[in-house]
Amino acid sequence: MAQVDEHAHQPAVTRRDFLYVATGAAGGIAAGAAIWPLINQMNPSADVQALASIQVDVSAVEEGSQLTIKFLGKPVFIRRRTPEEISAARDTPVAQLPDGLARNANKPADAPATDENRAMDPDGKWLLMTGVCTHLGCVPLGESGEYNGWFCPCHGSTYDTAGRIRKGPAPENLHIPVASFTSDTVIQLG
Ligand code: FES
Repeated sequence: MAQVDEHAHQPAVTRRDFLYVATGAAGGIAAGAAIWPLINQMNPSADVQALASIQVDVSAVEEGSQLTIKFLGKPVFIRRRTPEEISAARDTPVAQLPDGLARNANKPADAPATDENRAMDPDGKWLLMTGVCTHLGCVPLGESGEYNGWFCPCHGSTYDTAGRIRKGPAPENLHIPVASFTSDTVIQLG
């Protein structure tokens, strides 16, 4: 199962470690044998790389915490947001955003970057994004930065609580991969 380290975002943890651990409260990963090779091998074999989808049990993810998993070679953040985070994201006019597109693979390419177009559920409790800075590919840190969203320490890109770029050199909002709930507590990626 994925390792959990509540201090994963702190400097003592290497970037490689960060990719493989969850921050905040633990969340179980339902895929079991399917995800195990992905999170334990730097160079998964071709058959493992070909896995097109996994299922993640998020029942243990508490409000205000984030689960990070690795999928198809990239970290994926699954955050269960607080009411304050949701309000901050929904109260921000799209016109204020440097990138006005949702960047959500589950929506049309021209969908605007409203919080509703980025959250997984209508209430906005769940936000799932590829954890790769759209500047040069570093892994942003959660609950960080001026907007209390994600902060990329490489060159200072600052994302809000919807993962939208607000300041710094990153040109686009954090990308959202194909994902959906298959039950109240299980998310399918891919
Ligand atoms: Fe994130 Fe440059 S890679 S700011």
